[in-house]
This record gives sequence, C-alpha cells and structure tokens, in this order.
Amino acid sequence: MSDPRARLPDIDACVFDAYGTLLDVSSAVMRSSAAKLPQADQLWRLWRSKQLEYTWLRSLMNRHADFWRVTGESLDHAMEQLGLSDPLLRAELMQLYLQLDPYADVAPALKTLKTAGMRTAILSNGSTTMLAAGVAAAKIRDNLDMVLSIDEVSVFKPSPAVYGRAAERLGVPANRICFLSSNGWDAHGAQSFGFHSVWVNRNKLAPDRLPSPPEIVVASLTDVPALLGL
Ligand code: LAC
Repeated sequence: MSDPRARLPDIDACVFDAYGTLLDVSSAVMRSSAAKLPQADQLWRLWRSKQLEYTWLRSLMNRHADFWRVTGESLDHAMEQLGLSDPLLRAELMQLYLQLDPYADVAPALKTLKTAGMRTAILSNGSTTMLAAGVAAAKIRDNLDMVLSIDEVSVFKPSPAVYGRAAERLGVPANRICFLSSNGWDAHGAQSFGFHSVWVNRNKLAPDRLPSPPEIVVASLTDVPALLGL
C-alpha cells in the first residue's frame, strides 16, 4: 500500500491518535456479553460512528462535553436503535471501553521508536481519565512520553487548536512532528494544521475527499520505523 521508498526525514516526535489507531474500538462489544448477538457488528460500528458525529456536532454547536459523556450518549443511541437498551449491558460496555485491546503492531512499534530515541505521545479526543485507563490496560505507558487529551482545549479534533496544543506541549515545531492516525479525517486535520501526517489505513478504506491529504499511507504501524529512517 505505501510506497516502500517513502521517507519522512527530520522528525523529532511521533504523535499517535488513540481510538482506532492504537486501541481497537470493536473490542468492547466483541469481549462483552453482546458479542454473540446478531447485532454485535452493527452495534460497535453505529456506536463508533455516532460517537465521532457527536464530537463534530458538539464542536460546531459550541456545546463541548468530554469524550466519556459523548461515548455514553452515542452508546445509548446505538443500543436503542438496535433494540438493545439494557442498563446492565450499557454498564458492561462502558467499563470495557476503558480497557480496549491494543492492536498487535502497537507495542513493538512504540518500543522500536523509543529505543531509537524518538519522542512519542498520544493526542486523543479521549478524556484524561479514559486515556489513563486505556494506556494502562494496553500496557503501553512505558513507551510513551506524553498522553495528551483534548480536555486541555475543550474542542474536538480536527480543530487546529487540538494539534496546536500538542506541538506546544511537546515543545517541538509542527514541521518536525509526525502525526499518525487510522482515522482518515484526523490525518487530514493534522496535515492541514502543519504536521507531517501518516494515515494508518488498517481497514483498506478509500481515501477521504478532504483538504490536505496525509503525506504517507501505511497499512499498519509496522511500517513506521523504516519510514522514519530508523
Ligand atoms: C481519538 C479518536 C479520534 O482517539 O479516535 O482522538
């Protein structure tokens, strides 16, 4: 998928999206008591798409609420839509959302980057509390220098304010930051802000038609160290 000769030179920090990029958002439903239901696949997909839609709409409406609340509200919508409303299942799914499975390529890629001296961070819509739980459960904290939440700016991605805060907090100029996301729209947002952006196209999706396409497309995080010349 990616051009094997593609290179991003002069990068000081790799900044990762969390949900969908490091953490598998389908795993909450797939590890729950709802996993065997005929609606299981629809449930995680609708939950995820409404969760993202609500972040964009809240940011446009100037009605921010943190990602934990948005995650619960989108789950309520998805469960009702699919005829699955049940407080016990809701509680189980929300709990599992705090301990999502990391993708298999995540730990080795982070370790290789850290060992090579790269600075690493997460920049996510996730609330500070959710992210702390998620990185602890995924056992990836040791190979991350920073875990940054949009809680600091109270607006969701792809607002430029989000990417700007990450550059500020890292103390690294935008043009020396490589931002990686499996969410195509997030990769566009980061590239538009001024980061070098990599779309981790885990699901072999067609590219989004948005301004500022990501510079590089890879199939998984395994390709990333070579891309950075490490
Ligand atoms: C995040 C969402 C976009 O982690 O998945 O920011």
